[in-house]
Amino acid sequence: MKDKTFLMIPGPTPVPESVMTEIAKHPIGHRSAEFSKILENVYTNLKYVFRTKNDVIVYTSSGTGAMCAALENLINEGDNVLSLVLGNFGNRWVKIAQSRGAIVEKIEVETGSVIDPEVLRKRLAEDTEKKIKIVTLTHSETSTGAANNVKALCEIIREHGALSVVDGVTSVCAMECYPDEWGIDVLVSGSQKGFMIPPGLAFLTANERAWKVYEQCKHPSFYWDWGAYKKSVGENSTPFTPAVNLFVGLDKALEMIKNEGIDNMNARHKRHALALRAAVKAIGLELVVKNDENASHSITSIYPPEGVSVPDIRKVMKNDFDIVVANGQNALKDKIFRMGTLGFVCDRDLISAVGALEATLYKLGHKFELGSGVAEVIKNLG
Ligand SMILES: Cc1ncc(COP(=O)(O)O)c(C=O)c1O
Repeated sequence: MKDKTFLMIPGPTPVPESVMTEIAKHPIGHRSAEFSKILENVYTNLKYVFRTKNDVIVYTSSGTGAMCAALENLINEGDNVLSLVLGNFGNRWVKIAQSRGAIVEKIEVETGSVIDPEVLRKRLAEDTEKKIKIVTLTHSETSTGAANNVKALCEIIREHGALSVVDGVTSVCAMECYPDEWGIDVLVSGSQKGFMIPPGLAFLTANERAWKVYEQCKHPSFYWDWGAYKKSVGENSTPFTPAVNLFVGLDKALEMIKNEGIDNMNARHKRHALALRAAVKAIGLELVVKNDENASHSITSIYPPEGVSVPDIRKVMKNDFDIVVANGQNALKDKIFRMGTLGFVCDRDLISAVGALEATLYKLGHKFELGSGVAEVIKNLG
């Protein structure tokens, strides 16, 4: 049905009507007092959402922009970087670091797995000369639905002395993430994920240790330069012309997040992800991430049942039920499908999505007990 589409991809995610209404208003001048007031709210409320005392910089870009901003202000040619790779987005750090002339080593795990902290501990213990300057990692790896134990990993990185640079693009808002307490040195995220606004803004926060390394960077990027953005945060401004309408939307969305409470928002994502996982198992499908402990709370990756193709599942979900689910990426294309429970998602959405998934699989000939997934989701939501 027209205008009924529900996005269950891991970004862009659904945007509340009240946020869209703000975004639809005429643009205002980015040097006006009115906009400066919006920035003041945004910069203050972002610290609350990121659970940090440090400034949160906002870029007009997609999430990858903030990833570039992270490494392009820290790396000098020839620096050693260790990248912890769970999938596609872990590999993005590798490519960005290499583009700055870093020597990159990877610890990579098989699809659906996470980094064993002891493997990292062992590798870093071998680095007695402390050559490794930066360790990159992904909190919620959107290509597989696996989530690293960032707290444990960052503690180990801190003991070694390297900087931890964390991709929180699909974890901030959705999963518990405490940069100050866990010792995350740099954390990035993107607007079209848990923040409930459209694509176009990206976030970065860095602590004092990271700022010291930034000061040693010989060729910090011009557009992403942390220094320019930090100065602007202090002045409730931005260095360049920002996506003003998105900032206005962000202001509204942050107000909604504050009203829900960041703890409640994290808890909602966890409930939804675990309920979806239980439902999917009840329908007889296999999850890519086997252990609930290692599962992202924003994205769930699922193997199709035997004899049913991923394109068919996506087509029926979209055409018959107006629900868009994501395909797998790269080697996982057509091998898995991914359902997002990220951002502006309520219990009703989840119950209807599982119902639609059951109806889709029923139409496509998968044999299972009709209603088993919906029953499980209802039980799990409590
Ligand atoms: C974990 C993760 N990191 C990075 C990105 C890149 O963000 P963008 O596509 O906004 O550049 C994404 C996008 O899906 C992501 O899920």
